[in-house]
Amino acid sequence: MAGRFENKSVFVAGASSGINLAIAEAFAREGAKLTVLSRSEEKIEAAAAGIRSIGLPAIGIACDVRDYPGLEAAFARAVEAHGSIDVLVSGAAGNFLAPARKLSANAFKTVVDIDLLGTFNVFRASFDHLTRPGASLIAITAGQAVHPSPFQIHACAAKAGVNMVTKCLALEWGPAGIRVNAISPGPIADTEGMARLAADPAREAAIKNRLALRDYGRKDDIAEAAMYLASDAARYVTGAILNVDGGNDLGDASTDALA
Ligand code: HXC
Ligand code: NAP
Repeated sequence: MAGRFENKSVFVAGASSGINLAIAEAFAREGAKLTVLSRSEEKIEAAAAGIRSIGLPAIGIACDVRDYPGLEAAFARAVEAHGSIDVLVSGAAGNFLAPARKLSANAFKTVVDIDLLGTFNVFRASFDHLTRPGASLIAITAGQAVHPSPFQIHACAAKAGVNMVTKCLALEWGPAGIRVNAISPGPIADTEGMARLAADPAREAAIKNRLALRDYGRKDDIAEAAMYLASDAARYVTGAILNVDGGNDLGDASTDALA
């Protein structure tokens, strides 16, 4: 049976690990031709080799999303290898817990540059290489974009900007037949993100207890959402921020205090 994305050209930025790598692998399993990009030559080549090992075409490109000329070259390479970009996922990010009073201006700027400026850069540099009409662009945001969180002023500000980049581009690029959406994952198991935000079991249990669905999500939950947004089933969806978050966006669902 043909895959859902047979011969589509899919580009995933920030794809050497975690959620974004799972997204890239899911598209590859559905027949797509993959370009994966991240800073580390070693890590991104390992990611691309992993995809190729299951017999699927993939190239890995080492590039920092803060390097705009580097991204221009990356898209040119991707198009040469796989044709114009049908699906583009922008998920490179950095985060750490730090109280605002101890956060240097450079630390704040670093996260904003990777998450927010990086997302703008990836989308902007892709424009001339997108399949038009029909391309689907997907940003990876977070609940912190709308829910302030202690010790994450940098990531909250950056992801809030990612939501607005998504909506502004959806508005501007819709007439060209380009859809732009974002996925907002909740806490996802076995990721660097949650290792940094909830290192100890007590914190993990407390987070789960606040969620309506009482559990972390899986990387494949996010990959399935990305494939939905990239598919014809979502042909009339643009400018959406899709929560795939176990109810995180609803707020605190713990009932202990009421028992
Ligand atoms: C305080 C810190 C810090 C920390 C770095 N800095 N880590 N400040 N607490 N834990 C400061 C440094 O001192 C420096 O400021 C500035 O940040 C830049 O640091 P560099 O190491 O030079 O930056 P860089 O090499 O560009 O690395 C970026 C990084 C790093 C974000 C700092 O952690 C990284 O590469 N992260 C990628 C992987 C990752 O974070 N994955 C999780 C994403 S999940 P000074 O002033 O000293 O120069 C995610 C969570 C979910 O996003 C949703 C939340 C929104
Ligand atoms: P991760 O494994 O650390 O993924 C981050 C990726 O971005 C890595 O592949 C990293 O590879 C790349 N990257 C970082 N800085 C980059 C840069 N400047 N240029 C290019 N690539 C860069 O983290 P994750 O937890 O899976 O998170 C993935 C995405 O999901 C992020 O956007 C994050 O904000 C979002 N998210 C995660 C969760 C969660 O529960 N984990 C929740 C909500 C949202 P290199 O080191 O090789 O560059």
